[in-house]
Amino acid sequence: MTAKTTNPAAKSRRKSIAETGPAVEVITGPRVEPKRDVLNIGVIGYGYWGPNLVRNFAELADARVHTVADLNPKALETVARRFPATKVTTDAMAMIRDPEIDAVAIATPVSTHFSLAMAALRAGKHVWLEKPMTETSMQARALIEEAQKRGLTLHVDHTFVYTGPVKKMRDMVQNGELGKTLYYDSTRVNLGLFQRDVNVIADLAVHDFSIIDYVFDQHPTAVSASGINHYPGTPENLAFITLFYETGFIAHVNVSWLAPVKIRSIIIGGTEKMITFDELQPSEKLKIYDKGVSFTDDPAKIHEMRVGYRTGDMWAPKVDGSEALLVEGKHFVDCIRNNKKPTSDGEFGFRMVELIEAATASMRGRGETIHLPKNTSK
Ligand SMILES: NC(=O)c1ccc[n+]([C@@H]2O[C@H](COP(=O)([O-])OP(=O)(O)OC[C@H]3O[C@@H](n4cnc5c(N)ncnc54)[C@H](O)[C@@H]3O)[C@@H](O)[C@H]2O)c1
Repeated sequence: MTAKTTNPAAKSRRKSIAETGPAVEVITGPRVEPKRDVLNIGVIGYGYWGPNLVRNFAELADARVHTVADLNPKALETVARRFPATKVTTDAMAMIRDPEIDAVAIATPVSTHFSLAMAALRAGKHVWLEKPMTETSMQARALIEEAQKRGLTLHVDHTFVYTGPVKKMRDMVQNGELGKTLYYDSTRVNLGLFQRDVNVIADLAVHDFSIIDYVFDQHPTAVSASGINHYPGTPENLAFITLFYETGFIAHVNVSWLAPVKIRSIIIGGTEKMITFDELQPSEKLKIYDKGVSFTDDPAKIHEMRVGYRTGDMWAPKVDGSEALLVEGKHFVDCIRNNKKPTSDGEFGFRMVELIEAATASMRGRGETIHLPKNTSK
């Protein structure tokens, strides 16, 4: 939607918006300071993921779901039945304009993220944006700048970062328990859900990109990917992505919407310890193995290629089992109230979009290596 006006200042404003992505309706509203005891959140999108946001936000002590907007009236009937105190509307822009709303959470298809988030920021609302943040890194950058300019919180929902097992993996890697980290290898496959507006890299591999970024605190220098769309006219449904790092660390991610079984498995290899993470296990999802290899440094034996294998204990550490979205919801509200930087802030989201773009370009170039800029926020 484009604002209809003949005002020359508004015209030039429209031009700069057009340069940074799709046209949006320009809303000028006063910044809503979070002065209320209970923060009013408006949620846009009540399809597959939106209900999880609403359910978890409803549990927060110092925030509430004020309004849910969805184009689908049937979805809104469900909201009204489950949450009678929550307002519903098919008009997301009216909700964004509502002065009672302090923060807007956007759980709509990726192609709509930029225009909705930009409109919310321009109306002075703090924003929770679903992954991946935007379709392009240029759009992501424009949202970051808008949020900075207005002193608003921009949070991107990379849910894995807020899970107990991923936090445990980060702790172990960061305090050196694994020794030197060598590789990350992930398989994230199942049948569906085929997406219409994004490929399997933006839909599934982005989870691994976020886990790697958070756990290892490193940004890749290059990416190479192969993948295919088996059904013409649809986005790529299968991809194998390799990320290269300056330190010699390497990551491989296998994602697919076309597998007969669901697999969510990660292996992390270090010189001292190795980790497996099977998200689908009911318990003991995370296992630590005291396994590794050593090569002889005796010059006399170097030609014999003597490898020593260490096979010690395996244990399953206790991890925080709290629902990630609840932890993340509390973090979002804390960031708004106390002007803190979210763990998965706009810059984090930007790095993910940049990686999706690079991996997709490589995939479309049949595995051509794409070098990533060094001057990222990492
Ligand atoms: N964080 C996670 O782990 C996770 C998991 C799944 C999905 N997601 C993300 O959540 C977002 C939504 O995915 P989904 O699977 O729920 O999609 P979906 O298609 O199931 O639901 C989207 C909903 O948004 C509504 N909608 C679309 N445009 C709208 C508009 N302009 N105004 C109001 N409502 C509108 C649709 O009617 C639909 O109900 C995507 O960005 C996706 O990547 C995140």
